[in-house]
Amino acid sequence: MDSFLIQGGRPLCGDIEISGSKNAVLPILAATLLTRETCIIRKVPDLSDVHFMGKILRSLGADFTYEHGVVTLQAKRLKARGDYDLIRKMRGSICILGPLLARSGKASVSMPGGCVIGTRPIDLHLKGLKALAAEIHIQEGYVHAKAGRLQGAEVFLGGRVGPTVLGTANIMMAATLAEGVTVIESAACEPEITDLAHFLIAMGAKIEGAGSPRMVITGVDRLHGAEHEVIPDRIEAATYAMAAAATNGEVTLHHMRCDHLAAVLDKLKEAGVRMEARGTSLKILPGGEINAVDVSTQPYTGFPTDAQAQLMALMLKAAGLSIITERIFESRFMHANELARLGADIAIEGPSAIIRGGLPLSGAEVMASDLRASAALVIAGLMCPGRTQVNRIYHLDRGYEGMDQKLRSLGAKVKRVKER
Ligand code: UD1
Repeated sequence: MDSFLIQGGRPLCGDIEISGSKNAVLPILAATLLTRETCIIRKVPDLSDVHFMGKILRSLGADFTYEHGVVTLQAKRLKARGDYDLIRKMRGSICILGPLLARSGKASVSMPGGCVIGTRPIDLHLKGLKALAAEIHIQEGYVHAKAGRLQGAEVFLGGRVGPTVLGTANIMMAATLAEGVTVIESAACEPEITDLAHFLIAMGAKIEGAGSPRMVITGVDRLHGAEHEVIPDRIEAATYAMAAAATNGEVTLHHMRCDHLAAVLDKLKEAGVRMEARGTSLKILPGGEINAVDVSTQPYTGFPTDAQAQLMALMLKAAGLSIITERIFESRFMHANELARLGADIAIEGPSAIIRGGLPLSGAEVMASDLRASAALVIAGLMCPGRTQVNRIYHLDRGYEGMDQKLRSLGAKVKRVKER
């Protein structure tokens, strides 16, 4: 497995382009199953998760090509079941369930198990599809769904900790071809859901209220092909903003949506990070001290769980105590122990991590456990003196387009070491 060798302690300086959003593009690719016609998706990041989704869609009978950030897809004829092995390996693939069922009346996917960040239930996805008149059976670890034409219904999708992002995507996609009107209450408001809605609307779907907790979808008989450009990745942008601040660098992020990052930018400001937003660019300026801040992760528009680990790395620099409370995924603190190998003092108390920052750090060998935890280890490696080796960086390749190249273009000493 590849690893990154980082020679830390150098400020990042320069300009980088933010890539298209991973979490927006995965459901958008799944949505192309809703039509027989060709769809063209632009600004698609070159990520292993995207290519994985491509393989899944191919296994379902779709033509999928990826060229320089443009995906061309056509699902003329569909198979009801794809390659279970592929589907099982990527959590995001659950979002094929809704479109597949709506288009072909049946769908089977493997039941996602837990993962390192906690249990990943899909009860809300299934509740929503049942409300639309689907029959669901769970057998030997697989979800089998079938339906005649789906029927519009009122669905409440709020769960234990709030709305579900992919659950909302699934029900929204299924409802576009249902008979009648579907109202989703407590819908996820994430920008990735709004982006999916824009794509579906371009395909001919009737959707109102995307980006709000109440979405109304009026079913249509068929959807047609469409072109779409994916929104910038707000989590990638947050990651580079924090890496710049952590190294006291001067970095301008281009192709940004600052409005998607209000909670993160507000926290960075509170931490004393100097920033200048101009149109679609954000400049992080070198400054003085980083202040300790407290944060709780929340559904959008709150502070995203996907930026929690990266903020923890930044807080290692802040003298004093900061408390990070994780409200979305119960065990999403796997990075804390690895950060401790670099000299961090982090205590986990229930859903909170208490970080005593400002201590001397030094490079070490660490192990990436999931995508965002890996990003936190890279940030920490960039900011502490000495050599840090981040192992298992295949997690990063799932969600960060060319991270090593982008960091090198900012002057970082990062080398990808291939496993021999
Ligand atoms: C998506 C993102 C992920 C992000 C997460 C929360 C993608 C590919 N992934 O994941 O990066 O961290 O949103 O912003 O877009 N839940 C239930 N029942 C369900 C579904 C979810 O109880 O049926 C719970 C989950 O356990 C979790 C919370 O709801 O506690 C939010 O999960 P959800 O929004 O569904 O996350 P994903 O859509 O899987």
